Amino acid sequence: MAFQSPKGTKDVLPEEQPYWRLVEETAGKIARLYGYGRIDLPVFEETALYQRGVGAGTDIVEKEMYTFEDKGGTLLTLRPEFTAGVMRAYLENGMAQRPRPVKVWSMGPVFRYERPQAGRYRQHTQFNVEAIGEQDPALDFEIMSVAYQLYSELGFRNLAFQINSIGCPECRPAYLEKLSSYFQRRIDAACDDCKKRLSRNPLRLLDCKNPSCQPAIDGAPAISDSLCADCAGHFSTLRQYLEDHQRPYTLNPRLVRGLDYYTKTVFEVWAEGIGSQNAVCGGGRYDGLSEAIGGPPTPGVGFASGMERIVLTLKHQALGVVPEPAPEVFLAHLGKGAERKAVELLSALRSSGIVAVMGFGDRSFKAQMREANTRGARFVGLIGESEMAAGVVQVKSMKDGSQTEVRWEGLAGHIRNRSGGR
Ligand code: HAM
Repeated sequence: MAFQSPKGTKDVLPEEQPYWRLVEETAGKIARLYGYGRIDLPVFEETALYQRGVGAGTDIVEKEMYTFEDKGGTLLTLRPEFTAGVMRAYLENGMAQRPRPVKVWSMGPVFRYERPQAGRYRQHTQFNVEAIGEQDPALDFEIMSVAYQLYSELGFRNLAFQINSIGCPECRPAYLEKLSSYFQRRIDAACDDCKKRLSRNPLRLLDCKNPSCQPAIDGAPAISDSLCADCAGHFSTLRQYLEDHQRPYTLNPRLVRGLDYYTKTVFEVWAEGIGSQNAVCGGGRYDGLSEAIGGPPTPGVGFASGMERIVLTLKHQALGVVPEPAPEVFLAHLGKGAERKAVELLSALRSSGIVAVMGFGDRSFKAQMREANTRGARFVGLIGESEMAAGVVQVKSMKDGSQTEVRWEGLAGHIRNRSGGR
C-alpha cells in the first residue's frame, strides 16, 4: 500500500462508532441540561490569536501548531485548542451584550504536532465547554460539574479531580520570582527543557516529568502559600462547593497546565487506562484571555475533554455500548428480474423503518446466505425464479431456520410483526 494515515492520526472505523456516538450524545445532552448552547467555529484562525491567547512561550505555540500561509498571504493555524477561538467569537459577535455568563460548548477536531503515543494524537477531538463573563467560583464548580456528570454517566470508576490555583497578575509575579530564585540555585541538575523554562515560563518547571528534575520540584515553594486574598478566597469557596457535593479532589500544587491564559482555578480529571497521557480533561479560569487578544476585561472558565481518551477509558474500564443495529433483513436474489425486485422491496422495507440490505452481484443463494450470516441479519428474504412467478418472498429465520412464504406487498408488515416492534 502506497499510503498510510498521517503519523499521529487515526481512522474511526464503523465498529468503533457506537463508542463515539455514546460520548457525543451524552456530552451534548449534559451540556444542554446545564444551559449551554452549541457554538461552531472555524477549524483555523489567524496564527496571532494563538500566539497572544495561548501564549508565545508555550509548547503548543512554540512547537506544535500546524501553521500555513494561505494564497492571500495570511498566516493561519489549524486550531490547537478551542478557548482562544471561543473568546474571539464572543468579542467579535458582541456576545457581551447577552445575559452573562455566556455559556457555550463545541465539539470538533484539534491539531497539535506532538510526539504520538497511546492517547496522544496529532489530530484529536475535543468536547469543549466555556462560561464567559462571570468571576463567581460557583461557575468554576458548575464547569467542573459538567465534566463530572459526563464521566459518571458514562460509568467511569474512581473519578477524582486534580485541582490547584495558580493565582492572578496580583500575586503570581512575586511567586514566580520566588520560584525562579529557588530553581536558579538548582538549575545545573535540571534537564535541558527546564533550563529553557527557567527564563521563559518558570511555572512550567513544576510539571516537568523528567526524573532528574523531581527532587528539586518536590522541594519547590507552593503557590498556595503566595495567593492574594482574592485568589485564596476564590479557591476556598470552590473547594467548599466540591466538598458540599462530595466531589473527590486532590490538591495538586504542581498542576500548572500548559496554556498561558490560566488564572486562579486549574483542574484536570485523570483516568486509569490511557497510559502516561492520563488527563481525560483539563481546564480552568482564564480571566486575562480577553485582554490578551485585545478585548475588554472579561473573566471566563471552561474545560476540554479529549474524546479519544474518553473512548479509551470506556474500553479500558470495559464499559458497554450499544452496537450498531445488525440488519433485520437481507434480501438474496437469483435469476432474471429478481435483483430488480430486490431493489424495489428493499426500498419499501426501508420506508417502513426496517434496517434492510441485499446481496450485490451475480452470486449463488449459498454465497448470499453466507454474507447474510456474517452481517448478522435476522431474516433472509429469498427471491428466485419461482418466487418471481408467484409474487412472493421466502422469508427464512436465521435463528431457527424456519421458512415462511410472504407476498411482496405484505413483506414489511410481516417483518415488523415478527420483530416485535424492534
Ligand atoms: P488541554 O489540557 O491542552 O486544554 O486539552 C484538553 C484535553 O484534550 C486534554 O485533557 C486531553 O483529554 C485532550 N488532549 C489534548 N491533547 C491531546 C492529544 N494530543 N491527543 C489526544 N487528546 C488530547 C485545552 O485545550 C484547553 N483549551 C481547555 C480549556 C477550555 N480550558 C479552558 N477552557
